[in-house]
Amino acid sequence: HPPPMLRIILFSSLLSLVSAYESSCTSDCSATSVPRCGVWMNSERIKEADGIYKLNEGVMNVSCSFSSLPGPSSISWLHRPSSLSTWMPFTCSSKDEQISCSPSSAQTVSSVCILRTSALNMTGSYKCEAVVDTGSDNAKASSSEVSISVEGIESVQIVDKSLVDDRQGYVEAKICANPQPEVWWSTGGEGLLKPGQSLSNYASSHLAKTLVRENPSGPASPLPYCYQVRLIVNRVNKGEGISLLVRSHGDESTTKIVSASSHIFSFLSFFFVLSTFFF
Ligand SMILES: *[C@@H]1O[C@H](CO)[C@@H](O)[C@H](O)[C@H]1NC(C)=O
Ligand SMILES: *[C@@H]1O[C@H](CO)[C@@H](O)[C@H](O)[C@H]1NC(C)=O
Repeated sequence: HPPPMLRIILFSSLLSLVSAYESSCTSDCSATSVPRCGVWMNSERIKEADGIYKLNEGVMNVSCSFSSLPGPSSISWLHRPSSLSTWMPFTCSSKDEQISCSPSSAQTVSSVCILRTSALNMTGSYKCEAVVDTGSDNAKASSSEVSISVEGIESVQIVDKSLVDDRQGYVEAKICANPQPEVWWSTGGEGLLKPGQSLSNYASSHLAKTLVRENPSGPASPLPYCYQVRLIVNRVNKGEGISLLVRSHGDESTTKIVSASSHIFSFLSFFFVLSTFFF
């Protein structure tokens, strides 16, 4: 039997080894010799996600895994709408991250990102990036990139209208859809009308990109995936029944446009009721 003092030392060093194994998530590395400090990719499942996703129905499922020294890397997921824009962090619909620590070799971090394609502006490229603090600087590594397109009709809104019996009138619609939608106006008396066409009582503007201006004197820039179109009615018939039909890559929508200004009034009174409630 070893003397009691030695037994205590043996026992406590065994204990510290066990607790180091459980809590330590750093291991030795060097800037100049092996093992080197830094981060490198283990595996990824990114390219497989490439393709077209349906608006509100698609689920992009991507993952990446990195090893690093001395500590675990922090992984972020990045998106850019087009190759001209900068990479920005985005929030996955759900994310699962697993860290496996080692006191003697590299630390491994794996991240799975699930993104529900609930907006057209999720179109673009995605990648993940890992960063580790090596003590002297930050080392970085990136996965490959995947390009996706989110397609469907996001919204059809009547943004302005005036339809008063026996007067000249108009209806202006804003449509957000990808790819660029096909549009028809269904008129009460004269059938279908496409943007850029005219009939005897109706004329439609071309479909044009919606422009937004951040401040009144600044430049206007197009709102991605949104278009505007205006129907002119030479003389509004009583009970005029106009509809807007929109089609974008298999997705379809029909919007009935209620004649006269009763719609506007109910809209205003709704806000009036709301404001009396809250203020
Ligand atoms: C994501 O993909 C992985 C691997 O194909 C699969 O095991 C996992 O169930 C998927 N997750 C979802 C939410 O689809
Ligand atoms: C993307 O579109 C959604 C609505 O569809 C909007 O709420 C969000 O702010 C947009 N994000 C960016 C970065 O433009």
